Amino acid sequence: MTDKAKIAVLISGAGTNMAALVYASRIGDCPYEVVLVASNDPQAAGLALAEAEGIPTFALPHKGMTRADHDAAMEAAVLEAGAEYIVLAGYMRILSYGFVSRWAGRMLNIHPSLLPLYKGLDTHARAIEAGDSHGGTSVHLVTPELDAGEVLAQVAVPIVTGDTPESLAERVKLAEHQLYPRAVADYVSRWRDPAALLERVRALALALPESDERESHGSPGFRVGGEKSGKFFAYFADQHHGTEHIALLARTGSMDELLNLVESQPEVYFKPAYYGASGWIGIILNRPGVDWDEVAAWLQRSWRNVAPKRLTRLMDIADEF
Ligand code: GRF
Repeated sequence: MTDKAKIAVLISGAGTNMAALVYASRIGDCPYEVVLVASNDPQAAGLALAEAEGIPTFALPHKGMTRADHDAAMEAAVLEAGAEYIVLAGYMRILSYGFVSRWAGRMLNIHPSLLPLYKGLDTHARAIEAGDSHGGTSVHLVTPELDAGEVLAQVAVPIVTGDTPESLAERVKLAEHQLYPRAVADYVSRWRDPAALLERVRALALALPESDERESHGSPGFRVGGEKSGKFFAYFADQHHGTEHIALLARTGSMDELLNLVESQPEVYFKPAYYGASGWIGIILNRPGVDWDEVAAWLQRSWRNVAPKRLTRLMDIADEF
């Protein structure tokens, strides 16, 4: 079992979503652990619960501080706790641009509406007012624009006759308590999820001119050059021949280059069984912090290696501009 992802949860109020995250983390092989609960309100009820659960806490009122200074103090506490992800759970502060940018892709929020509907406040009242059949909740990545980052998971909750914003909020919270732990668990695990990794590789490979996908010995492979004379420039290898690696196989320039890379960066590269002998390198994808620009560069280079002249010539011309 790989190490658990470390998450810091930021709250301002009751912290029931935080509690749901904590209790889910105590069950079975949950892929994350809560290393900090932090709040801008020292009175937040959730802090007392976190303390009782033996989780480190941090509280700092924002009154009298600039947004940037307050964010910096919260961020310092998060880093100090060793958190790799920030999970906002009813944290009622708008975050500064710098803070959000530094945590891009590693900061999640839960918002009580079916985004993109009803960003901002009073979501339940607005849904009832509009006569919607359902309210709901969304887990999304945090970007500088409020409640506008990629939606990772959603659940719809019916609005029933006589609902008030309060009664609907309560029902939505039941859904949130199921959704958030699951969405966080899936998100922190995605770097070792073969389906998610293949999807990323596929998107990059098929974006290259005239490439197509064809299975080869049970693995997804990517070719360029047409139906008949096409050649493979990449394979997606999911734990082949006894390795733990989920990897992209790409063509290198020479065996020397391959061996050098494997020797100097064994956490990134390996020499795959069979393919390695003919100069294919394995680029390990199931590790945190993969540089996807680098993966894209490998695909492009490998594609260039085998693509017909008429296509590489076009690429060369495009590169000059
Ligand atoms: C939740 O409904 C969440 O969607 C919103 O704020 C509320 C927080 O509730 N962002 P709690 O503090 O987790 O009970």
